[in-house]
Amino acid sequence: MDNFTFYSPTYFVFGRGTENEAGRYVKRFGGTKVLLHYGGGSVVRSGLLDRVKDSLDQEGIAHVELGGVKPNPRSGLVYEGIELCRKEKVDFILAVGGGSTIDSSKAIAVGVPYEGDFWDFFAGKAEVEEALPVASVLTIAAAGSEGSWGAVITNEDGMYKRPYNCEKMRPVFAIMNPELTMTLPPYQTASGCTDIMAHVFERYFTNTKDVEITDRLCEGILKTIIKELPKVLEDPNDYEARANIMWAGTLAHNDICGVGREQDWASHNLEHELSALYDCAHGAGLAVMFPAWMTYVMHHDIPRFAQFAVRVWGCEMDYDHPEETAREGIARTKAFFHSVGMPTSFAELGAREEDIPKLLETLQIEGRTEGFFMKLGPKECEEVYRLACR
Ligand code: NZQ
Ligand code: ZN
Repeated sequence: MDNFTFYSPTYFVFGRGTENEAGRYVKRFGGTKVLLHYGGGSVVRSGLLDRVKDSLDQEGIAHVELGGVKPNPRSGLVYEGIELCRKEKVDFILAVGGGSTIDSSKAIAVGVPYEGDFWDFFAGKAEVEEALPVASVLTIAAAGSEGSWGAVITNEDGMYKRPYNCEKMRPVFAIMNPELTMTLPPYQTASGCTDIMAHVFERYFTNTKDVEITDRLCEGILKTIIKELPKVLEDPNDYEARANIMWAGTLAHNDICGVGREQDWASHNLEHELSALYDCAHGAGLAVMFPAWMTYVMHHDIPRFAQFAVRVWGCEMDYDHPEETAREGIARTKAFFHSVGMPTSFAELGAREEDIPKLLETLQIEGRTEGFFMKLGPKECEEVYRLACR
């Protein structure tokens, strides 16, 4: 196990009715004027936004609002949010929604006190020194942004997506009521769960040896999603299954599963170019990319892929031909994604093989590599995209 530090100080408020405590927690974390940031309207239709506003009013906390965050959140609305916060002297940002809304909120939070262009952070030209506090009322189990230090924004000037990580963006609290996820369309539920599994895969497939504790945490999360996702697709109002999925989403990405080991992240970065170009759901893009990546890198560490097959999918170990066991684990992963309604090829996602040069261009892979499990240069990334077409 590698040396590590782990500090993940988000305060989690989990369970039924917890959205009514939003005001109390904003006050506790020092907010006096709040930007309520939300997406395309699901939180308006469900009445959640009104309940959150009531809760702020009860605590005497002033608020302004900015809706309209699109999935794969855009830089344009971030600039608008920064201006609004400055004009209204906002000192706290409360995201009501999913990963896109939380990420847009994080970008606004680092942009408000910064004199330059907030994109400097995402372009690697500057580091954050100051940020407004951010928190969330989560409505979808997926990105894990409610407990993560990352944000992913699509730059509308070129339509490419970039991640940025910094401790100052980690939410100070997250309100998580599993009931709020019951209105999700099945496709979004499945896409969110795919993202959760992908966050575990990025950590599980590692070159670090003897990390049994985090291997087992990872396997537990994967097995939870495999068990609970079919249940909520059958009965969207299954509270216990929703609750298990929601907490799994946070644990998959607040890095408790990633400490002490090298992580990969090639599949995520290859996927980001897909969701930027085709505006598909991030999880759906991952359902296409991950089986392709696994197939490409499998031979780098057959025992690890065989372990995955046996422990996660219950495959029988073929001691004479371990690569067959490894292959079966990948096939089971792909079949599972299919069974929950996810695409598993470019065509099913609506992506086109002839766009691969464009994807490689926005990935800006020339002269560098992606991933750590196996370092992938331009040619290898192209191969993985090509495998994803099949
Ligand atoms: O916009 P509204 O109307 O709210 O609808 C949303 C949106 O259309 C809908 N939705 C959310 N909760 C709902 C609901 N509909 C009905 N009932 C509810 N309770 O679902 C759609 C997707 O929402 P979005 O916020 O985009 O989903 P998700 O949480 O999957 O976020 C995806 C974004 O997160 C980024 C992705 O790249 C993508 O841009 N990621 C962020 C990470 C991070 N910050 O740590 C890590 C991830 O790997 C990921 O890259
Ligand atoms: Zn993800």
